[in-house]
Amino acid sequence: MLRVSASRPARPTLDTERLKLHRVTPEHTDGFAALYAKPEVMRHLTGRPRSHEETVAHVAKMMGHWETHGFGLFAVTLREAPAVVMGRAGLCYLEDTGLVEIAYLFDTPYWGRGLATEVGRELLRWGFEELELERIIGIANLENVASQAVLRKLGMAHEGRAFHYGNDVERFSCSRTSWSG
Ligand SMILES: CC(C)(COP(=O)(O)OP(=O)(O)OC[C@H]1O[C@@H](n2cnc3c(N)ncnc32)[C@H](O)[C@@H]1OP(=O)(O)O)[C@@H](O)C(=O)NCCC(=O)NCCS
Repeated sequence: MLRVSASRPARPTLDTERLKLHRVTPEHTDGFAALYAKPEVMRHLTGRPRSHEETVAHVAKMMGHWETHGFGLFAVTLREAPAVVMGRAGLCYLEDTGLVEIAYLFDTPYWGRGLATEVGRELLRWGFEELELERIIGIANLENVASQAVLRKLGMAHEGRAFHYGNDVERFSCSRTSWSG
């Protein structure tokens, strides 16, 4: 598995035109708890809201991923409101595989503004240019047409059906050589 070397450490923040991505810390816990408490946000992930205790455990898991692999998920804020967590996005290992997946999730008022596509473009750039990954996977539940649309807009190729996290999903991928930037 990839471990980003000390000579090219992963940056703790990334920027897009409208968003700022911050490496996850315990200070983001309450922001994530508010997001994870919404059934609409969690519908295609866990299928149910997460409790505060589950959020605390999930924040620890995200921080552990950064410590182990040198990259991971970010708390997302608007650039003009860097203290308010309105999303989560990043790159992480797809469970039980050696594959790295792209992930994004936003609070409901921010849907439909192109933000997932905007953050996805920056994550692919980060993954291929800075982390020097060879391949990035994207998965979305069969009913999650918005997420599938985002993966297609990012230029990821549809591989077909797969089974991950206990669900049938549509799986997409992009390789460094096919990535158009
Ligand atoms: C999925 C999610 C990240 C999309 O974020 P977003 O910022 O609204 O995405 P974008 O605006 O960049 O693009 C969404 C695309 O899906 C399309 N779309 C949305 N709902 C759709 C629907 N019901 N049917 C068809 N297309 C749909 C939009 O039209 C848009 O495509 P377009 O730009 O070509 O019109 C957001 O809905 C979300 O956070 N959902 C909850 C968490 C989640 O499911 N995360 C993904 C897990 S795989």
